[in-house]
Parts: sequence; structure tokens; C-alpha cells
Amino acid sequence: MFEKITAAPADPILGLTEEFKKDTRPEKINLGVGIYKDESGNTPVLATVKKAEAILLEKETTKSYLSIPGTAEYGLAVQQLLFGADASIISDKRAQTAQAPGGTGALRVAAEFIKRQLGDVKVWISNPTWANHMGVFKAAGLETAQYAYYDAETKDMDFDSALADLANAAPGDIVLLHGCCHNPTGIDPDAAQWQKLAELCVEKQLLPMFDFAYQGFAKGVEEDAQGLRIFAAQCKELLVASSFSKNFGLYNERVGAFTLVAESNELAVTAFSQVKSIARVIYSNPPAHGAAIVTEILNDAALRAEWEQEVADMRDRIQEMRTLFVQTLKDLGVEADFSFIERQNGMFSFSGLNKDQVNRLKEEFGIYIVGSGRISVAGMTKSNMPPLCKGIAAVL
Ligand code: LMR
Repeated sequence: MFEKITAAPADPILGLTEEFKKDTRPEKINLGVGIYKDESGNTPVLATVKKAEAILLEKETTKSYLSIPGTAEYGLAVQQLLFGADASIISDKRAQTAQAPGGTGALRVAAEFIKRQLGDVKVWISNPTWANHMGVFKAAGLETAQYAYYDAETKDMDFDSALADLANAAPGDIVLLHGCCHNPTGIDPDAAQWQKLAELCVEKQLLPMFDFAYQGFAKGVEEDAQGLRIFAAQCKELLVASSFSKNFGLYNERVGAFTLVAESNELAVTAFSQVKSIARVIYSNPPAHGAAIVTEILNDAALRAEWEQEVADMRDRIQEMRTLFVQTLKDLGVEADFSFIERQNGMFSFSGLNKDQVNRLKEEFGIYIVGSGRISVAGMTKSNMPPLCKGIAAVL
């Protein structure tokens, strides 16, 4: 029966990591997947995660199933991170949160919820976006459309075109927004632009959905929620997919959350009952460990402060690499202006390198970056910077 099956194409991001692992060149550099590396090129377990795990080892009394949406403590901790500890959305119980297996799991639950409960609406996705977005929504049978986001000339957000494209959305359509650290461009709207986007969604009756995977990697944990909170102040309904892969370094624990905000507690509870039945038929109930770690850290004032410092350290190191990257290219005599890299947020930058250059970097120099030209700045270190920049200078 299986003879008829043809091979699926490799994943543009995770497939690259598989190729990288097979590469035997010792000087190879992986700037493909978004994984934070420290100065020695390692992805360590955060100190606060280790501490929380030690507490959990003592505290844990059972491995019995969680409920379908996970624990209430986790749901509340996630909501406080998103909307702020004193948000009325929380006190009015307008938000309901389901723990999900990673940000992708949260997105997939959201996609199923949209398809089953909101019908044949379109999901508007930024162009460009994370390589997996389109696939997740299509897998749920949803139609997608793109709105302009990036101006290749100015290396900035093409805000006017974004607004113009979104003006074509129909009432009920979904607008997918990156909470911060837009993946792949590293360019986020400013407060005034968030405001305009929120107004557009209200005016055109569009449902905003935030993919929030890098909270803390732009300016700070609270600061990075600015866009979401501007929307939350204006929109009666919104959806959020959270990921804690990056800001807690819990990549392989698959810990994320799907949060639904409705106009009232009653409406939220009813809509959320559908979310629960979706989760039940996909993964039944979520894995416990990662969410227990996140809950432990966020609910302990000392651990939380230490975690915020750990996030700040990761953020600062990435920023330092941005500056060093731009300087090293300059020192090598590269004439093209890469200063935009310093202005961008989070793990990624859109380098402007084309497919041929990306291929040459891989074949000739063992430097792996995503085909779109997205570079994971989080994978740069002081020691891989000279060979990296020499490779880029050679292919430019
Ligand atoms: C990325 O964009 O590199 C990460 O979000 C990892 C992934 O799953 O693609």
C-alpha cells in the first residue's frame, strides 16, 4: 500500500537542522532554527528552570492526567504575563486559557477552533511570516491571505501597504499578528501603529489573533506585551497563541498556551468548551512538566525576578551580536549597509541574502541559514563571527 506514497519536502527550518547535523565540517555554523545559544555555542537549561525542577521533584505527588485545558494556576499565570497582573480582562474572567503542546500546538488548536466555530473565514498572515504558519492554518482547512509587511528597500515595515491590504479583509476574518520580534523580519509595529491596527480590526470587525513566542526578547517581558495590550483595550474578542520555548528555554518540553478572550465570562466559557473538545481529539490533555516549571517560576517572586534577569541576559547578548555582526562586516570592507540589523528585535533578522547566496553559504562555508535569508542572530557568538562574516562577504 505504501508504494504510492511520495516523499514530503523537508521542513524549511527543522529540515535544515537535520542537514546541519549530518554535515561533518567542524567549522559549520547553524543560524537556521531559532534556538538561543550562549557565548560557548550551547543552549543551556536556565538556572531558574533547574531550581523550579528541583522544587517540583520534591513537591510532585502524582503523574495522573491533567484536565483537558491543564491547570488553572498555569492558565492564570499565562494571562497575567499577557495582559498584566491587574488586567480587567482577568478579573472579569473574560479570558480562558488552555495549556497546549508548544506554540505550534496552540496555533493548531486555534486554527481548528476558527474553522469549526467561525466558519469559512480567511486568515490574514503577514508577508513574510514564520514558515510554518501557512501549513498550520491550511491543515485545519482554512483559507489564508497575505498582507504586506516588509519593505525590502527601506528594510522596515511597510505599514501603509499592510493597512491597505487588511482593508480588503471581510468582517469575521482573522488577522494574525506577531506579538513582538516578528519572525522572520525582527521588525515590530510601534505603539501608534499597533493602535492603528487595532482600530482597523474594530472598524472592519476583524478578529485579531496574536502569535506570541518571543515575549521578553525585544525590550522586556512587560514592554513586549504593549501591542497585545493595546488590542486588548479595544477589542471585545481576541485569540493568543503563546510559546515558552524561547523565553524559558523549554524547547523540548513543548509548553505553550491558547488563550481566548470574549466579551463576557459567559461567552468565554461557552466558546472555551469547544476549545476543550478540540484538544480532546488531538492530544486529549497536555503534558505537565513544562507548564509546571513555568507556573513555579512565575508564581514565586524571587524566581520570577531571576528569570526576568535571565531573559534580559539572553536579549542583551543577542543585541551585542547584532552590533558585532554589523561592525565585523564593515571591518571586512563589505560596502552594503547592514546597519538595519541593529534596529531589529529578537532572535531573527531578514538579511536580504538571496537563495543563491544562502546556498553558497551552506555548500562552500558550512553556514546554514533559512532559504528566505532569515538569520538567527541568537546563534551568533564572538568565536563564530569572523568565519560567518567572511563567508557572507564572499558571497555578496
Ligand atoms: C523558528 O522559527 O526557527 C522556531 O520557531 C522553531 C520552529 O519550530 O520553526
